Amino acid sequence: MSYNISEKGYYGEFGGAYIPEMLYPNVEELRQNYLKIMAEPSFQEEFHALLKDYVGRPTPLYFAKRLSEKYNTKIYLKREDLNHTGAHKINNTIGQILMAKRLGKNRIIAETGAGQHGVATATVCALMGIECIVYMGEIDIARQAPNVARMKMLGATVIPALSGSRTLKDATNEAIRDWINNPVDTHYIIGSVVGPHPYPDMVAKFQAVVSEEIKSQLLEKEGTENPDYLIACVGGGSNAAGTYYHYLDNEDVNIIAVEAAGLGVDSGESAATSVLGKEGIIHGSKTLLMQTNDGQITEPYSISAGLDYPGVGPMHANLYKTGRAEFIAITDKDAMTSGLELCKLEGIIPAIESSHALAVFEHKTFQPDDIVVLNLSGRGDKDLQNYIDYFKL
Ligand SMILES: Cc1ncc(COP(=O)(O)O)c(C=O)c1O
Repeated sequence: MSYNISEKGYYGEFGGAYIPEMLYPNVEELRQNYLKIMAEPSFQEEFHALLKDYVGRPTPLYFAKRLSEKYNTKIYLKREDLNHTGAHKINNTIGQILMAKRLGKNRIIAETGAGQHGVATATVCALMGIECIVYMGEIDIARQAPNVARMKMLGATVIPALSGSRTLKDATNEAIRDWINNPVDTHYIIGSVVGPHPYPDMVAKFQAVVSEEIKSQLLEKEGTENPDYLIACVGGGSNAAGTYYHYLDNEDVNIIAVEAAGLGVDSGESAATSVLGKEGIIHGSKTLLMQTNDGQITEPYSISAGLDYPGVGPMHANLYKTGRAEFIAITDKDAMTSGLELCKLEGIIPAIESSHALAVFEHKTFQPDDIVVLNLSGRGDKDLQNYIDYFKL
């Protein structure tokens, strides 16, 4: 059994492309071309050259000594926070902008929650001199103000999404609407492993550089490519997909996926999709989805703008359903505490999304000789105001 995508675009029973007819030509064009384009030597060369010299890859695999001592296990942090623009999101936007160029597109649209994907998209559009429009929920615009300013400085137009919970789901709806209206010249850079096939697979493949690097870095440091555990936070699931990618079918490696419990899984204010979700269709993909009994999407909540999405990528829905990954839900409070702990123990200020992953060490005991690799998906600069308000700094 493989946990990777099938030829038809499914992970087990999840995935596919459930799209309105008007979107079909765009998605089909991408589906027919993405693997071919990604396999071109010139594409790979350009992609890896930019990852190296522009993004700053490979990112370090850092042995966190003091954190390891505290939790009596061996903890390595994969430092995606050190990427240009401050998170893993840029790996995917570099890939997709090169894809868009080869498909002859001259206008880019994107959705963003925390703003990291919006910034990463605005960045690569500036790099390539291509027009960029970013949809962002009104609530997220308020709580991620520095990233909004960054996008504007980079030349992007930021359009607020005013419907629903005014967060990521609603921004995605607006972006899809735009794409339907601009089918020929526009490429939609989706920021996670969500959306209709081939997006979940394409984004996972661009992020797979993370686990590719973990393998060789761990071999060098520990004499083995395989950690005992991989840990990553899951919003839509792209940093997690990148962390797991090359280990999916290697069941010697345990996988832990961390979701946002918000105020608590049963509080009604949560974004723990796997526990609370049921099978449904969101943004073109069959997956686990938070919904009412009559199928209305439930508004998610998390202190972290990057994790409050009511769905999860189909790869992760399948990892949950099959039991391949262990899913742990972490509250706002526990995430914030663990984020601050990393500052004090290691001198690293993490993004609040990544802080959710860090909180696993308070919830699960590892053996002293376990090798645990945690993907530190982003840096905390964008969250400084939230940390200040929360801890009254
Ligand atoms: C730093 C960081 N980590 C994680 C995420 C969650 O996204 P994903 O699950 O696609 O990695 C985001 C989303 O904005 C983010 O900014």
